Amino acid sequence: MEELKLSRRIFLKASGGSAAAAVGAAGTLLAPGAAQAQAAGAATGTTLNYPKTSVGKAGSMPVNQPVSFTYPDANSPCVALRMGAPVPGGVGPNGDIVAYSSLCTHMGCPVTYDGGTKTFKCGCHFSIFDPENGGQMVCGQATEDLPRVLLNYDAATDTVTAVGVDGLIYGRQANVL
Ligand code: FES
Repeated sequence: MEELKLSRRIFLKASGGSAAAAVGAAGTLLAPGAAQAQAAGAATGTTLNYPKTSVGKAGSMPVNQPVSFTYPDANSPCVALRMGAPVPGGVGPNGDIVAYSSLCTHMGCPVTYDGGTKTFKCGCHFSIFDPENGGQMVCGQATEDLPRVLLNYDAATDTVTAVGVDGLIYGRQANVL
């Protein structure tokens, strides 16, 4: 019996050492692959960068009238608005210019701007969004706010530039494809 215990101890000791060696070897084998993946990720990034797209001159934007453009690509319709009074997050000389995706967050129908109520309205299921408050969903079937196009304003050239999107554009897994 003693002989058996000794044998088992020796066996476990020996196999434990082997197991540790095997793990060490596997770690050594896996490490270069992981390092390559990390290097590739660092080189290409895990998300694509947003383009910088000119929306227009702030001075030429009519107050309370939609200016259509596409961003971040030609398949993503957006609308810029000069509200006529400063709004949260607004850019331009008066801090009143904002922009949004014009695809409803419910099922992707195009929203239209109603200058009378200063809201975006979706004709499909009657969702309403507030451009003066970050595209907030006011009522209707949608459960998400309109994605907001992030804007930069260059006072030297009076140019408004789209530089990003806050919120996921309807129908996409990522805003930049
Ligand atoms: S698609 Fe706009 S409310 Fe349904």
